[in-house]
Amino acid sequence: MTTVPVELTNKTYEVKIDQGISQHLGDEVAQVWSPRKVALITDSNVGPLYLDQTQRQLAAAGFEVLPLTVPAGEGSKSFATAGDLIGRLASAGFTRQDGVIALGGGVVGDLSGVVASLYMRGIAFIQIATSLTAQVDSSVGGKTAVNLGDTKNIAGSFYQPDLVLVDSDYLKTLSDRDLVEGYGEVVKTSALDGPEFFAITGEIKSPADIRRQAVELSTRSIAYKARIVMADEKESGQRQFLNFGHTFGHAIELLAHGKLRHGEAIAIGMVTISQRFERDGITPVGITEALKARLTAVGLPTDSDLIGTPEFFQHLVNDKKNRGGVLNLVALAAIGEPVIVKKPIEDMPAFVNGQKG
Ligand SMILES: NC(=O)c1ccc[n+]([C@@H]2O[C@H](COP(=O)([O-])OP(=O)(O)OC[C@H]3O[C@@H](n4cnc5c(N)ncnc54)[C@H](O)[C@@H]3O)[C@@H](O)[C@H]2O)c1
Repeated sequence: MTTVPVELTNKTYEVKIDQGISQHLGDEVAQVWSPRKVALITDSNVGPLYLDQTQRQLAAAGFEVLPLTVPAGEGSKSFATAGDLIGRLASAGFTRQDGVIALGGGVVGDLSGVVASLYMRGIAFIQIATSLTAQVDSSVGGKTAVNLGDTKNIAGSFYQPDLVLVDSDYLKTLSDRDLVEGYGEVVKTSALDGPEFFAITGEIKSPADIRRQAVELSTRSIAYKARIVMADEKESGQRQFLNFGHTFGHAIELLAHGKLRHGEAIAIGMVTISQRFERDGITPVGITEALKARLTAVGLPTDSDLIGTPEFFQHLVNDKKNRGGVLNLVALAAIGEPVIVKKPIEDMPAFVNGQKG
């Protein structure tokens, strides 16, 4: 078992990563929580696969479990669903001494975090991460959120869990498309982290390789994210590096109207921005090709006709990272050496569509 400690100003917790943790979940939870009522929140895909066994193990460890299942998919990250769940906790007599456990991917994690942070102004929270996105990214960092209509993550808070459990066995039932989508973030993290991790993603050639190497990939991704989060809890400085590929990626994700998944759009965003910075001499030649090779090896897209269209630039103007007409873009000065490059919005058409910036 690998344990990654996350030490924050007001709280320290552990991320435990291994194959087979799902067989002793009750013991793991009992190490951080005394017996109490637990709202076990999952979704309609994960629930039928893992809810019964999880509930049984928690009950055997002395917890009184209230199972709650929401429909799978981004639509459940809503105020309505959060409100409904909060009402269910209240009806079941939950107090501030009780807890919420998320059993699922990033959707269930983000939603459950909102519920835990709001219920009676905050009750204890644990995440059991079942998708690759959750196992390498969303379960660590403390960001919780729900969407409002089409506006993603518009309402939420920073709310840290008491424990995060990552078992690579869960990935056996995850679809290849969901797996590969999460892997886009792994490639990103490996490029931000350094040559050792980047060499490991260089060896991954298929979804089967991802599953085989999942413990190593999660451990390294989580360790990197934990390091950044520990240094920059509220996302003012270093945490911006995690946005590598995201400024362009978000724009095309929105323009694609559901045809591109988040991880697919980010893959395109990373390669596109890396190409531009390579052309301008900020990123060394060869890094874009190396990124592209890793992404295409597992079937992720790396280009899109949506890049550089008038609508694309309009989305950059609307980007929440647009600070007073200037975009903070993340460039790779080397593998393991991200830097922030500030670009005025009016320079973006030239930067994206051609001339040396
Ligand atoms: N809080 C953060 O820092 C952060 C970071 C990245 C992403 N996110 C959020 O995470 C969400 C995306 O995460 P996601 O890709 O995990 O989405 P998701 O939770 O919708 O999971 C993807 C799909 O896989 C299914 N699934 C999950 N685990 C499974 C398993 N073990 N077996 C079978 N099916 C399984 C889910 O039911 C769903 O259909 C977005 O809402 C995004 O905003 C948050």
